[in-house]
Amino acid sequence: MAKTYNIAQVGGDGTGPEVLAEGIKVIGEVQKKYGFKLNYTKYDFGAERYLKTGETLPDSAIEEFRKQDAIYLGAIGHPDVKPGILELGILLKARFKLDQYINLRPVKLFPNVETPLKDKKPEDIDFVVIRENSGGIYTGIGGATMVGTQNEIATQVMTYSRPIVDRCMKYAYDLTRKRNKKKMLTLVHKSNVLTHCGDLWVRAHKEMGDRDYKDIKQDYNHVDATTMWFVKQPEYYDVIVTENLFGDIITDLAAIIQGGLGVAAGGNLNPEGVSMFEPMGGSAPKYTGKNVINPIAAIMAGGMMLDSLGEEKAGQAVEKAVVAALTTGKIKSMAAGRMGMGTREVGDLITSFIK
Ligand code: IPM
Ligand code: MN
Repeated sequence: MAKTYNIAQVGGDGTGPEVLAEGIKVIGEVQKKYGFKLNYTKYDFGAERYLKTGETLPDSAIEEFRKQDAIYLGAIGHPDVKPGILELGILLKARFKLDQYINLRPVKLFPNVETPLKDKKPEDIDFVVIRENSGGIYTGIGGATMVGTQNEIATQVMTYSRPIVDRCMKYAYDLTRKRNKKKMLTLVHKSNVLTHCGDLWVRAHKEMGDRDYKDIKQDYNHVDATTMWFVKQPEYYDVIVTENLFGDIITDLAAIIQGGLGVAAGGNLNPEGVSMFEPMGGSAPKYTGKNVINPIAAIMAGGMMLDSLGEEKAGQAVEKAVVAALTTGKIKSMAAGRMGMGTREVGDLITSFIK
C-alpha cells in the first residue's frame, strides 16, 4: 500500500484557501508519480471563525495537530480583526505550542522572475535563511506600567538560552553541510551592541563549528550590514542563521529580492515533531475569489512540506515544475492581477510539468 501522510489543511483567510488549493493540485500529481498519498483534514481557523465564535486556535486543535504529519497553511489576517489577535492566537500559538523552532526560508530567484536588484540573475540569488522561531523578543517577556500616563514604561525582553541557540545552530550547520554549496554559515546578529545575547550566539556558532563542523566556514555579519549586502551582493551568501526578530525583518527583504511575496515560501519546523508550511504573503483580502493571486509561494511551500516528510525527490519535482513553468515565459509577472493568467491556470501550468 502507498505510504500515507496526514496533513492538517488550514486555508485561513482571504486568498489563503485559493492558493492552497493550487498547492494541493500540484501535490496531487506529484504523489501519483512518486507513490505516496496525502490525506487532508480541513480546519476552519481564521478570521471568519474568530468573528463568529471568538475562538482563534483552541488547545484541542493543537492536540489534533500533534497527531498529524504536517500542517499546510494558506494565510491568516482580516481587515475586520484588530492586528495581533490572529497573528498571536493562531500563527504564533501554533509555532510555540508545537515548538516549531526553525523558520526556514529559501531565497532563490527563479528564471523570468523580476527582481528589483539591477543586474542580478538567478545564479546571484540563491541562499537560505534559518530564523530561530521559538525565542527572543517574540516570547513576549516584559510588561508595561503607568500605561497612558506621561511616565509610561514598557519592556519587551530578548531572551535566549544556550540550548535554544544550540538546537537552532545544529540545524543550521547540518543544512549548510547538506546543501553542499559554499559550505559557509553566516551568523547574523548585532553583537557590537547586544553584548549579552549577541555574545551567546557568537560563542554557540564558534564552539559548535570548531567542534563538529570543521568542514564548514564560519562567517559573521551584523544585521544592519546584512540588509546592505542583500541588495549589493546577495551572491555572497550560502546559509544564514539568525535570531527571531532579525530573521523576521531580513526575510521580508530577502523575499522581495527573489521576486516578492507571490513566490516566497517558508516552513516552521520542529525537526522532531510537527511542522507547518506557508506562503509568506498575507491574505490579500481585496483579491479574494478573483482568481488573480499568485499561487507559486503556496506551491513551493507544498514542495518544502514534501521534502520535510522525507519525500525529497517529490519536493524537488515541485520546484522543477515551477521552474519549468516560469521558463516558458507564459507567466508575465509575479504580481496579483498581472500574471497574464489566473491563479488556477498557473496551478494547471505547473501541474502539467509534473506529468
Ligand atoms: C512572519 C510574519 C509573522 C512573524 C507575524 C504575522 C506574526 O511576519 O511569518 O514573518 O512576525 O513571524
Ligand atoms: Mn514577517
